[in-house]
Amino acid sequence: MFYLTACSANDKLRMGKQRTFIITHSDSAGKMISETWTKEKLEGLGMQVISNEYFDRAMHWNESRFSVINFSHLLKRFILKHGEDAVLLNCFDDYQGILSLADIYRYDLRLATNITLTLENSKPSWLNPLLILVPDGKRPPFQERFMTANIRELKFVRLNKYYAPIEKTAGSSPEAQEGIEAFKNNCLFCHSLKGVGGNKGKRLAEAYGFLAERDRKKFMIDFKKFHHKNNEDKQDIEQFITQEKLERIVDYLVVIAKS
Ligand code: HEC
Repeated sequence: MFYLTACSANDKLRMGKQRTFIITHSDSAGKMISETWTKEKLEGLGMQVISNEYFDRAMHWNESRFSVINFSHLLKRFILKHGEDAVLLNCFDDYQGILSLADIYRYDLRLATNITLTLENSKPSWLNPLLILVPDGKRPPFQERFMTANIRELKFVRLNKYYAPIEKTAGSSPEAQEGIEAFKNNCLFCHSLKGVGGNKGKRLAEAYGFLAERDRKKFMIDFKKFHHKNNEDKQDIEQFITQEKLERIVDYLVVIAKS
């Protein structure tokens, strides 16, 4: 069988011969410091080779293989003194993932340092290590949240501080509350809101006038036109979201437009 590896020769992420990543945390005095980690140093924490159902399902592929380390083994290397309860995942392509430490432990998440795909699949440009993986047998909800790739920096943060600018934006409407949760779990990583999140996609609250019926319809149509199963760049977000949840997201964006 033939394999295509994600580390192509012209890979921009390579620095000299080694691929490096940044880990940012605060020292005992509360000062933020960044450490450079190489792929080899990460793999030194105990590398395994695995296949992965959750990833293959989301990509509509099979038999992908990965070199991984246990994320929890990496976490143990850091002493957190300032209430940090999450890791922000800053990516090379303006994607910004975030995972709570609780989820990393609960689902025993892995970090892939190498990705090997079967040749029949073409690799989207964003699919590079580090990549978050849910090991087989663990069953978190099926969400974009657990699909972060292309990670260049891991940064320890506090969830309530990170989400603070959007915390109260859903108001008291239960529909909008449901919408904000769906948005946080599936969209915010690429479509930032109030300065929170990634900027791989456009800012949706600014691109559409959610108070107008026409724009709300257009939003739904545009979503389906882009984020479907056959999206060329493998950005099938539709699979993570029901029509009902998508409507709750619109309810939420209407509340934001009114405020
Ligand atoms: C992996 C990153 C990513 C995620 C996650 C993501 N999007 Fe997108 N989205 C994009 C990109 C890139 C485009 C292309 C156009 C652009 O720049 O917005 C896009 C386009 C769109 C469009 C069409 C915009 C247009 O002008 O045609 C809509 C609507 C949209 N996304 C909604 C969503 C919603 C709702 C979610 C969550 C359920 C979501 N997206 C999750 C990256 C993402």
